Amino acid sequence: MLRALLLENVHPAAVEILRDAGIEVETRSGALDEAELIETLADFQILGIRSKTQVTRHVLESVPGLLAVGTFSIGTNQIDLDAAASRGVAVFNAPFSNTRSVVELAVAEIISLTRRLTVRDKALHDGVWDKTADGSHEVRGRTLGIIGYGNIGSQLSVLAENLGMKVVFYDSAEKLALGNARRVETLDELLQVADAVTIHVDGRAGNAGLFTGDMFARMKPGSIFLNLSRGFVVDLASLREHILSGHLAGAAVDVFPTEPKKRGDHFDSPLRGLDNVILTPHVGGSTLEAQESIGHFVAKKLRDYFLTASTTLSVNLPNLQLEHTGVGRIALLHRNVPGVLAAVNQVFADHGANIEAQMLATRGELGYVVTDISDVTQRGASAKLMAMDTTVRLRIRDAFDRPEFPPGPAAA
Ligand SMILES: NC(=O)c1ccc[n+]([C@@H]2O[C@H](COP(=O)([O-])OP(=O)(O)OC[C@H]3O[C@@H](n4cnc5c(N)ncnc54)[C@H](O)[C@@H]3O)[C@@H](O)[C@H]2O)c1
Repeated sequence: MLRALLLENVHPAAVEILRDAGIEVETRSGALDEAELIETLADFQILGIRSKTQVTRHVLESVPGLLAVGTFSIGTNQIDLDAAASRGVAVFNAPFSNTRSVVELAVAEIISLTRRLTVRDKALHDGVWDKTADGSHEVRGRTLGIIGYGNIGSQLSVLAENLGMKVVFYDSAEKLALGNARRVETLDELLQVADAVTIHVDGRAGNAGLFTGDMFARMKPGSIFLNLSRGFVVDLASLREHILSGHLAGAAVDVFPTEPKKRGDHFDSPLRGLDNVILTPHVGGSTLEAQESIGHFVAKKLRDYFLTASTTLSVNLPNLQLEHTGVGRIALLHRNVPGVLAAVNQVFADHGANIEAQMLATRGELGYVVTDISDVTQRGASAKLMAMDTTVRLRIRDAFDRPEFPPGPAAA
């Protein structure tokens, strides 16, 4: 029976999905260090973690029976993805399960900053009745400029239009404009018209220092600025200057160039203590709903990897989206070198196997070929496939009445 170890309080929805698929699940609330992880994982084929457990090359080399890791988070920095791929360990994450939460926080902040709620709130907490309309605006009719129109930027576009905002966006890739949103060709064009500028670019290295002093200077006087993407994208010292000079009316920042490691740690930033600046500790995606949605998403990816051999959205293996069929299935992860497919099919031909379906995907140095053949165990081809020097991992599901793929050995 397949066994899954879920650490770090993974959402119970994940436990239920895996158990329903016939997988035995053990849960632990905390993370494990390297030595504990190696010792504990010996009896498990599936590992579920969040952000604290480090799955190093040493762990992967020490646990040959491990077949898949689900990281119940967006990031995958805590896993050595190359080492996992080279040992045929599939890694799945949840790239967009918390995006709605980020969008809702951005909407809340756009309204709060435009209305100067933070200033009114602080004054009243300080015992001052500051009843005034100064600097307060409706968001209706104002223009939102979105930089990065991906999962988050495009959802925000829809909600902002529903609030009566005009939306312009700038994206370095070709993107479909939703609703009445208008694409602009340059960042400058966006900065000239936007009353609120919000950044939702991805974390590629080229985005370091994307938004600097020069850009703040080109924003409209009295506009507001939000960053809920990555900390290294924005120059916070320049943002501080433009808030203090009054050029910008406010800002909301959720992500920082360096962030404290754990809850309760000290935090410092040039933005602390500034008027109409909302600072949040990287909680854009942190809601109970997002946690549940992540639990569902990653558990289903793990389940499908064992039920159908599907690698859809795996972050380190070639991606194949596969359906359930009633016939035997051979899933072969191999080194991506010329001639592998021909050699594999020669093995099948030598054993008189009739291929009913076959799919191949490659990714860098790896190839993944999945072949459907009736009576797969009676054909005896597996030993030959296993012996091929290109084989990384071979998994065989022999019949429909035995739905899961048993853990196949990793090639030496
Ligand atoms: N604050 C949080 O808690 C939280 C939660 C989830 C995601 N995020 C971050 O939000 C960001 C957006 O997430 P997503 O899921 O929408 O990502 P995504 O990959 O779907 O979209 C990013 C978009 O930015 C565009 N882009 C990249 N560089 C650009 C540039 N220099 N100029 C213009 N466009 C550029 C890309 O083409 C893409 O369309 C990511 O950085 C992600 O890490 C933060």
